[in-house]
Amino acid sequence: MDNEPCLGCQVGDKWRKKRGSLIMALHEIQGAKGYVDWKDATDLSQTMGIPLARIYEVLTFYNFFKLVAPGKAVISVCTGTACYLKGNDKVLEKFKSELKIKEGESTPDGLFHLQCVRCVGCCGLAPVCVVNGKTYGRMTPEQVPGILNEWREKFKEEA
Ligand code: FES
Repeated sequence: MDNEPCLGCQVGDKWRKKRGSLIMALHEIQGAKGYVDWKDATDLSQTMGIPLARIYEVLTFYNFFKLVAPGKAVISVCTGTACYLKGNDKVLEKFKSELKIKEGESTPDGLFHLQCVRCVGCCGLAPVCVVNGKTYGRMTPEQVPGILNEWREKFKEEA
């Protein structure tokens, strides 16, 4: 565990000189791993010089933030304007029908969690989905089963 790169430190380092950037830093961590845990929060606290209590205040105020992993793979479908205009609503529908869950829910086996997010910062690739930090651009509904299989295979290999 100690050898893993410190996500909270890297993100904290990037944002610490920018005023009012705590929420951006928390978004970046959640975008990368799907949730913000105790270690991320403490690393961020130390790197940014923000009291841990303040970080937890923000984390618990916005129900967007998750403190525990909601699924092994967190699927974020961008519903920002560019992605919406390019048809990401159809991609979202395909994820829902393939996984038999709604947005904000996890599959009963705990493998997938589906969520909608606003602009992930790569509108040029719209429509965009992100799975555990991996970006899929120019998405079509037809790609959805392949992406789900890719992650199922990955989890099988890790098991
Ligand atoms: S609107 Fe989807 S990446 Fe910007």
